[in-house]
Amino acid sequence: MVCQGNSRTVKSNQEGIHHKLDALVMRYKQTESKRPVSEHTREAFLAVEDWLDGWQGDIILDSCCGVGQSTATIAAGYPDCKVIGLDKSAMRLGKHSHYQSGADNYAVFRADVNDFWRLAVQGQWSVKKHYLLYPNPYPKSSQIQKRWYGSAAMVDLMALCPVIEVRSNWLLYLQEFAQAATHYGLSGEIEKVAKGQPMTPFERKYLASGQACWKLTTGKAKD
Ligand SMILES: C[S@@+](CC[C@H](N)C(=O)[O-])C[C@H]1O[C@@H](n2cnc3c(N)ncnc32)[C@H](O)[C@@H]1O
Repeated sequence: MVCQGNSRTVKSNQEGIHHKLDALVMRYKQTESKRPVSEHTREAFLAVEDWLDGWQGDIILDSCCGVGQSTATIAAGYPDCKVIGLDKSAMRLGKHSHYQSGADNYAVFRADVNDFWRLAVQGQWSVKKHYLLYPNPYPKSSQIQKRWYGSAAMVDLMALCPVIEVRSNWLLYLQEFAQAATHYGLSGEIEKVAKGQPMTPFERKYLASGQACWKLTTGKAKD
């Protein structure tokens, strides 16, 4: 992948945490989702279960994995886990062959994570860690419900696994994610991503443009 050093920083008309964030998160938390699961994601879920082949150990999810560079890297770091990369873009996943690692404990699948997360919760998967790297930020104030933590999908995201690593070049996204997660009994720590080995093409692009990248790690809050 060619380094592009001209990526623009996120521009938002929001000055701080969105004033409707807490109310939105609570509303979704208390409402059962009626959204039907799409047929193609149901099929993808069955394909993943086939690939897991009765696996009883830990699973790591890399949601919105794009070309799956991070999925391959994570798999190499967790040889005792099965690592699953998910993205809805066939075009991005089609480029995965350029990013393959020698690890045989991972695979990437095309799926809409809105539906996939629900199916994985229903299937009571044992997810050890969940990566969500550089999700689309939807930075306009009016777009808050498109951000993962402001959407109905947050309920399943929170039910899947308490240990979530989210990365973004927009610090406010992570601050809002952390605040939303407190409503599910999770605490979070935010740190700057070190320069060096970018984990994904988006991270590479942002760092090459001189932007700061941030990482939030959540976990169960202590009483
Ligand atoms: C900004 S890109 C980041 C890709 C990759 N993680 C990286 O850092 O290079 C966001 C990705 O989220 C994926 N995405 C957005 N909504 C999705 C959904 N509902 N289900 C699955 N993937 C989704 C897009 O297709 C895109 O590849």
